[in-house]
Amino acid sequence: MSDHESSDRHLVLVGLMGAGKTTVGQRCAEVLDRAFLDTDDLVEANTRMGVAEIFEHHGEQQFRILERDAVADACASPAPLVIACGGGAVLDAENRRRLRAAGVVVWLQASPAALGARVTADADGERPLLAGPAPATATLERLGAQREPSYEAAAHLQVDTEGRTVDEVAATVVKEFRAWNG
Ligand code: S3P
Repeated sequence: MSDHESSDRHLVLVGLMGAGKTTVGQRCAEVLDRAFLDTDDLVEANTRMGVAEIFEHHGEQQFRILERDAVADACASPAPLVIACGGGAVLDAENRRRLRAAGVVVWLQASPAALGARVTADADGERPLLAGPAPATATLERLGAQREPSYEAAAHLQVDTEGRTVDEVAATVVKEFRAWNG
């Protein structure tokens, strides 16, 4: 089976900040020979503002409205994509419904300590929810507990990323994606 025949569904990556949605997603897109789309990038392109700037000037609620539009646009793409969702996109029931209807949703998982180490190492990360005085690991632990039911409800598949390279995780995601689609 060629890569193009494996599915018309989008491959959707969800999970907390630092889960590797962007890096793993880009690698999966190469392997599947598909375009890659990050919902944060789409929000930024549509508004010509950075995510942190939107949070600062318009608030999280407005960001979530823009994010919902970005998820809808991504899902509506006739070409099958690899879509990396911002970490909070699955909190919205309409987003979960759309993503599950149009894609195979994979939840990338790691412990709060591993996520914290990754976001700290990621110098370009623009993450307003981690900007406060609390250590990133503690915030990620709290968000993880709050959001677990939403990731669970959104995801068709779960992939553990702990202690694994981007290539290893991407290979597992692609394998599971293909198997899930039959
Ligand atoms: C957020 C995650 C970020 C971005 C925004 C809010 C969240 O995306 O959408 O800062 O609520 O978890 P990444 O998960 O790609 O960092």
